[in-house]
Amino acid sequence: MIPGHGIAYGGDYNPEQWPEEVWHEDVRLMREAGVTMVSVGIFSWALLEPAEGEYDFSRMDRILDLLHENGIAADLATPTAAPPAWFFRAHPEALPVDRDGRGLSYGSRQTFCPSSPAYRTAALRIARAVAERYADHPAVEMWHVHNEYGCHNAECYCEVSAEAFRGWLRAKYENLAALNEAWGTTFWSQWYYDWDEIIPPRATGAVPNPTHQLDWRRFCSDELLSLYKAEREVLRTAAPSIPATTNFMVMYNFDALDYWRWAPELDVVSNDHYLRSTDPESQIDIALSGDLVRSLAGGRPWFLMEHSTGAVNWQPVNRAKTAGELRRNALAHVARGADGIAYFQWRAAKAGAEQWHSAMLPHAGTDSQIWRDVVALGADLKALAEVRGSTGTASVAVVWDWNARWALELPSQPSEQVRYLDQIRSWYEPLWRAGIAVDFVRPDADLSAYRLVLAPSLYLVDEAGAANLTSFAEAGGTLAVGFHSGAVDENSHVRLGGYPGAFRHALGVRTDELFPLLPGESVELSGGGTASLWSERVALAGAEAVTSYTSGPLTGVPAVTRHTHGTGTTWYVATQPDPATLAALLDRIRGEAGVEPVRVTPEGVEAALRRGEDADYLFLINHGDREAEIEVSAEATELLTAKRVLEGSVHVPPGDVVVIREPRSA
Ligand code: GLA
Repeated sequence: MIPGHGIAYGGDYNPEQWPEEVWHEDVRLMREAGVTMVSVGIFSWALLEPAEGEYDFSRMDRILDLLHENGIAADLATPTAAPPAWFFRAHPEALPVDRDGRGLSYGSRQTFCPSSPAYRTAALRIARAVAERYADHPAVEMWHVHNEYGCHNAECYCEVSAEAFRGWLRAKYENLAALNEAWGTTFWSQWYYDWDEIIPPRATGAVPNPTHQLDWRRFCSDELLSLYKAEREVLRTAAPSIPATTNFMVMYNFDALDYWRWAPELDVVSNDHYLRSTDPESQIDIALSGDLVRSLAGGRPWFLMEHSTGAVNWQPVNRAKTAGELRRNALAHVARGADGIAYFQWRAAKAGAEQWHSAMLPHAGTDSQIWRDVVALGADLKALAEVRGSTGTASVAVVWDWNARWALELPSQPSEQVRYLDQIRSWYEPLWRAGIAVDFVRPDADLSAYRLVLAPSLYLVDEAGAANLTSFAEAGGTLAVGFHSGAVDENSHVRLGGYPGAFRHALGVRTDELFPLLPGESVELSGGGTASLWSERVALAGAEAVTSYTSGPLTGVPAVTRHTHGTGTTWYVATQPDPATLAALLDRIRGEAGVEPVRVTPEGVEAALRRGEDADYLFLINHGDREAEIEVSAEATELLTAKRVLEGSVHVPPGDVVVIREPRSA
């Protein structure tokens, strides 16, 4: 449960970067902005523990007292993402080594080997010291464990990591024969006779073994997870009733952790989300990320631990937000289930590597657009207090799996142009535009709540996952599968007899050869659209052809098929249709499956629904440049203005957000 009342509001607070008189201005302004909770101490290790085992808590004591006196809660961090210089001088072996064998130096942050025993000991020591000192401090309402695990050090290729990797493999395979079988090591003379022969997939002359790489990614995710769990145990022992979180990065540029394995270990699931400056429709990325995080949280509310008020500082060109974008972004996360909205960071830094990163209180001070927006957002979030605790309502599930993503993007694939997130987004986009509520699920999830399940490019899937998806269709559901799915098992071994392997029977098709398309190449489809990226020579084995190629080497071959499987329906989308064609197809698929939009809205107006115990909350976000009129219940109230909607419809000006409370629908 997210601490506090209403929607939490705040950001990372790093007062140690400022003289103490500034702190008083900080809390005064926090109150002015309606800030309710800040994350403190994330990068304070060097100040909290000036030398091994010697602590100086005086500054943190004063910070927490000051926050508490001002009614602001603390999400207190264990500072373990940034070990101090003295630690590395004592333990140079804890510095990580990259894939090319290059040893890294300290001098930034998160530059440690995740398998280092010295790091683990030091991290647990400072975590315990912090936990024991502050377990009973009234300001502390949540633990912020570490920071963005794996952001900079998801992989370390040193000898210590190699030994830990071997330990992980021994636990998984028990004997070398099983490992050799799973990895297919008869290929290229890779057979292992001794556990000690196995090393991380370091830079090598040709393509490394795919299963070796896949197990390495699984190991790296688990290795960091074990660090998280160890810290969490320390915190639980000291303060059993304070919930623990760590900030995920469900973002386009991070794929190192299998968050399905992590999420159950968190008391509160939280996420950091930043916009990609070059994405012209980053509102879709926000929605996708929010739906995925809510799904990781088991449908329960989650905490947006970080996003930005304006530009970040780590992209080639860092775009500022346009008028109204700060508000739309924050409320869009709330619309997808966030009950806490926070930023990196409270006060813009004047020194250090992030001096050009935006903040709630910019360099320019309070006479600034960002500050005015931050204060206004605080009022908006206050007005949305009753939304807290409400959940999503999707009847469509999109299958998301980190193992499938890792395997699909291994080298030496039929086409390196096929990227997992691109595939997910290309299917998600038309659903977003149509106002269809979506959850994300693991392949082996309970699917009974859904009418329609979509599996874009689920390249790797194990037998249990595939059986779960196909039995969903057999029992009356609708399953739509994207190209290059079901191709390999959990060891990344190809399923023989034709593609798409695990789904062939349920889809009523059989492909004997893949025909990926070159960059820029497209082929025509019956019905008028075009397709790019991928094609296959699909033969019907029970299914009907919905669309076929009308040009190119596969002229006459089915591109999209439909099949009756058991009492349900299956679709195979064996290519990448152009966006309009894919949108029309998904519209037909979801129409036949009986899936209705949350609300029909004009183009550019996002609609998302949260369901409370007594009411529905409809979020309408106008990303377009025209005022929109949308039908709502005659009983509706607009929460941000507290106005009763009288005419059964509401006007949403361009760039604006409207949140409607309606009587709960069935
Ligand atoms: C991450 C980190 C923060 C900060 C921001 C900058 O999310 O967690 O400490 O570096 O990036 O965008």
